[in-house]
Amino acid sequence: MANIRIERLHPDLGARITGVDLTRDLDDAMVETVREAVDAYSFVVFPDQRMDDAAQLTLTKRFGEPEPSHVAKGEGKLEYFGTIGNVQPDGTVLGNSHKKTIFLTGNNMWHSDASFKETPAFLSIMCAYETPAEGGATLFASTRSTYERLSPERKAEVDPLIVIHDYVYSRSKVAPDAVSPQLAATLPPVRHRLVRRNPRTGAPNLFIGSHAKAIEGWSDAKSRALLDELVEEAVGEAHVYAHRWQPGEVVFWDNRCLLHRGAGYDADKYRRYMRQTRTRGEGPTLGE
Ligand code: SIN
Repeated sequence: MANIRIERLHPDLGARITGVDLTRDLDDAMVETVREAVDAYSFVVFPDQRMDDAAQLTLTKRFGEPEPSHVAKGEGKLEYFGTIGNVQPDGTVLGNSHKKTIFLTGNNMWHSDASFKETPAFLSIMCAYETPAEGGATLFASTRSTYERLSPERKAEVDPLIVIHDYVYSRSKVAPDAVSPQLAATLPPVRHRLVRRNPRTGAPNLFIGSHAKAIEGWSDAKSRALLDELVEEAVGEAHVYAHRWQPGEVVFWDNRCLLHRGAGYDADKYRRYMRQTRTRGEGPTLGE
């Protein structure tokens, strides 16, 4: 096995893993080592990787079923990659006022990728190619640590609750017409447990973020107050890890138990090009 080294990045989440070539070293033992690191740290970064889309898709398939992009699916296409940033396939750049750049600012709200699907995403895998000299970090917070910090009374209150996650709701915060009627029809609101459990370790965590619209059976105002309060508890300054991307990095993050958001950057001034794939979760959260 490769000579791997794991270094913690933050008390709540995150590890840097060196000594692994993700394009070569992925035998079953290495896949299990990375899975264990994901269960322990929720976020892992591998510096200095020589990736391309083909290698990224092969890597993604070693960790689960690749999740098709919902946006492409809404246009009748099967596509496993999303571009995070402003660099286009022909190398040109979209500025701050372009519709696609504005749409991507939806990712600057705290969220869990694809939590609006009945079976939400497990891993997001992101390869960084071009990163801005200023800004462009991604911020992460552990909702497992947030759950651990809740009082016993609060835990008893949130444990049985069901949350409605809704893509149209979250994207309408960016622009009222951000989601076409065709795409909206493929993504109806879904029910999730507010408290999920890691299927391998049993560790509980909150499942919240920008797509979480309401608590089932609660008024809008009461739902909003609780959901906003839980996000605030999750993302206090001491609990946030800011990842400042370097070209060549590959990051895995566990959407089941992390919130993340883009910190923003000046798309008129800088290029940002990162490619994202995701693996599908094991099944609907109601069964956890
Ligand atoms: C994401 O939400 O997947 C990416 C956030 C970012 O732009 O850093």
